[in-house]
Amino acid sequence: MITKILNSPMGQMISTWRMSEEGLRLGNQILQEKDELGEAIVRAVKCVEDNPAYVSVGYGGLPNREGQVELDAAYMDGDTLGTGAVISVKNLKNPIEAAYRLSKKKTNSILAGDGAMKYASYEGLPCRNMLTESSRKRYEEEKKEQMKEEERRAYEGHDTVCIIGRSRKGSMACGVSTSGLYMKEPGRVGDSPFIGSGFYADSEAGAAAATGMGEDIMKGCLSFAIVEKMRSGLPVQEACEKALEEHWRRLERRGYTNRGMSVIAMDNQGNAGAATTLDEFPFVVAGKDGCRLYVASMDQETGEHFLFAPDEEWLKNSKSD
Ligand code: GLY
Repeated sequence: MITKILNSPMGQMISTWRMSEEGLRLGNQILQEKDELGEAIVRAVKCVEDNPAYVSVGYGGLPNREGQVELDAAYMDGDTLGTGAVISVKNLKNPIEAAYRLSKKKTNSILAGDGAMKYASYEGLPCRNMLTESSRKRYEEEKKEQMKEEERRAYEGHDTVCIIGRSRKGSMACGVSTSGLYMKEPGRVGDSPFIGSGFYADSEAGAAAATGMGEDIMKGCLSFAIVEKMRSGLPVQEACEKALEEHWRRLERRGYTNRGMSVIAMDNQGNAGAATTLDEFPFVVAGKDGCRLYVASMDQETGEHFLFAPDEEWLKNSKSD
């Protein structure tokens, strides 16, 4: 039985997908013990990047059409609005670490390809071959199927890991990391490393981040749209639902089909919200009382949005990622 949640969950961190649970726990521990926001977010993202079981982020990420893993990551500091991003990097163990360091720079803070790798090497960041044997096998199988471009979807069950955090002093920040669309064209970039589309953080209003089909999310600068709605006074859950709904209808009027977009957000008081165009989108909220998994849902017939706290049966039947 699904029990709908009536009030926004409260916390200091929120993250996308069930795969982020372990990382959020580690990040939340840092936040509770030291109140170090940047360290907490980077730790949480790294935990997902380092786990080869999650094939849409970091090590073990599924490759592009030529069999190469290309990664995007970004970090935004909501106090300074400082933003760093790396785009289409190969063989960088933790793209979020490079993005975090770049967010401290006022110029040259968003770097792509070879330039990003040169920066990472200058900073002494570790490299590794990001293609695992299991992702390579999957790629070889998929190559035989020759799926058409318009049939491509964001990876089912998870996609970009997005982590939003809020310190006790009220500073907000956000980090995201992804290997992007599976079997993408070499050089293809989605929403994740783009400020306003994949993420946005402003400690004066709140923070938001998106996951799903990047080409669709970018057309509405979805994360910025949510933060602006919070700035104008809308409660966080309404801001998520309204921004997503308006954007989705805008795309629908142009003949787009629903390829899956989901968002998370937190206002500057710690109220958390989420919305999706999928049947189910799991997300995690953490605070002084620990971590808790929730699910955002959209009724595909009526378009109604709601949140629920999954019960034992849901947890047993759903994949852990
Ligand atoms: N949302 C990740 C991407 O489209 O690349």
